[in-house]
Amino acid sequence: MKTIMRPFELIVRMAGFEDKPQRIISDFSKLDFDYVPEKLVHRDGPMQQLFSILKSSIEDSTNQRVAVTGSVGTGKSSLSKRFCLDFREWASGKGQRVEFVIVNCRSRNTPSSVLLKILEKFQPGFPDRGFSTTEMLEILRKHLTKGNVHLLIVLDEVNVMVKKSGSDLLYCLSRFDDERVTDSKHSLSLIMISQQPVNEFLDAATLSTLKRTNQIVLDKYSRPELGDITRQRAELAFHPGTVDDEIIEFIADISSEFGDARFAIELLENAGRMANDEGQESVNPENVRAAKAMTYSVVTESKLASLGLQKQLVLLGISRMMRKRAFATTGEAEKSYAVACEEFDQKARGHTQFWEYLRTLGDMGLIGLGTSGKGMVGKTSIITLPDIPCRVLEDKLLQVMVKE
Ligand SMILES: Nc1ncnc2c1ncn2[C@@H]1O[C@H](COP(=O)(O)OP(=O)(O)O)[C@@H](O)[C@H]1O
Ligand SMILES: [Mg+2]
Repeated sequence: MKTIMRPFELIVRMAGFEDKPQRIISDFSKLDFDYVPEKLVHRDGPMQQLFSILKSSIEDSTNQRVAVTGSVGTGKSSLSKRFCLDFREWASGKGQRVEFVIVNCRSRNTPSSVLLKILEKFQPGFPDRGFSTTEMLEILRKHLTKGNVHLLIVLDEVNVMVKKSGSDLLYCLSRFDDERVTDSKHSLSLIMISQQPVNEFLDAATLSTLKRTNQIVLDKYSRPELGDITRQRAELAFHPGTVDDEIIEFIADISSEFGDARFAIELLENAGRMANDEGQESVNPENVRAAKAMTYSVVTESKLASLGLQKQLVLLGISRMMRKRAFATTGEAEKSYAVACEEFDQKARGHTQFWEYLRTLGDMGLIGLGTSGKGMVGKTSIITLPDIPCRVLEDKLLQVMVKE
């Protein structure tokens, strides 16, 4: 008897793919970086701190400011988002309207692009030019007054905006409505997030609008804390019985070197994928070892820190450019290095010196250097990043670079 194949199966067979059923991971969306669990593990303290500071924004309609700092993967972005969601719900129970806008200041690093994002919340399609920042603030004020809105603005990676455009916007937002006379029930509060401590990048005037008690520092996670975070994620995203306690402990142990929850979750996900690809019933230690090798084999923080600013800029340029690419030419790398220099207010060094940097990075195993193969014009030199996800490399670099 002839079997009838459905078209998809046919395509899969023809292409030689094997579409294995997913027996290990049950819900990939719970492993996404922008997924925020209902409850953050071991962050009750900072959550309560945020609440104590920001509740007066709705109780007395006062504008509050708070800074959240800590290194990569300490939960700054997730904490702020979880707080905004929970706070909005709490306020709504009290008959108050809370809205929030989260702005990533790495991609929006000028006052007008930040304000535009905020205004779009109240006025979708707000024109992206033609208004000064003063006018934009005035329009925002009208929206808040009219709707009795308590607005929380989260400025994530705020130091990038300050570095690029100064702290004028922060100052204006901190002083927003200070001389208000109407009895409108609205407020505008700021949650500023950065890896770098605020006193290292804010000017004295802006810093003075921020009380000492309003500076929340998130410590790196300890080994047991990372274990609990990993366990929570395994329960959310994996089929029951596929991740033993021993595996959780192992992941916690490896990631405690960095205290970085993102790293722990990434290890868990990669180990789970490998276990499934191997047709296993559960994750085993070999999967975790392989996942670790895949993630961080050559990049250690101390190695990156020892490079010095110029070589760090070269590597930063390369890692950004290669996010979506397997290979790049040295010419392209030189261009992206120049862009990185501009961002850090550094003068780009000349061509010969740039080549020296590339060679050193190659010798250290941080990049691969080779000549182009068939199909490429001439003898172009090409660059590869063998086994480091660009995003991980970029994060680690930025962490050591801002500390200088
Ligand atoms: N306390 C926590 N409980 C559960 N997951 C966490 C916790 N802290 C961080 N995570 C997870 O770790 C990852 C990195 O957190 P993130 O907030 O992006 O860190 P940061 O902004 O400090 O770099 C995210 O996937 C986040 O969901
Ligand atoms: Mg973050």
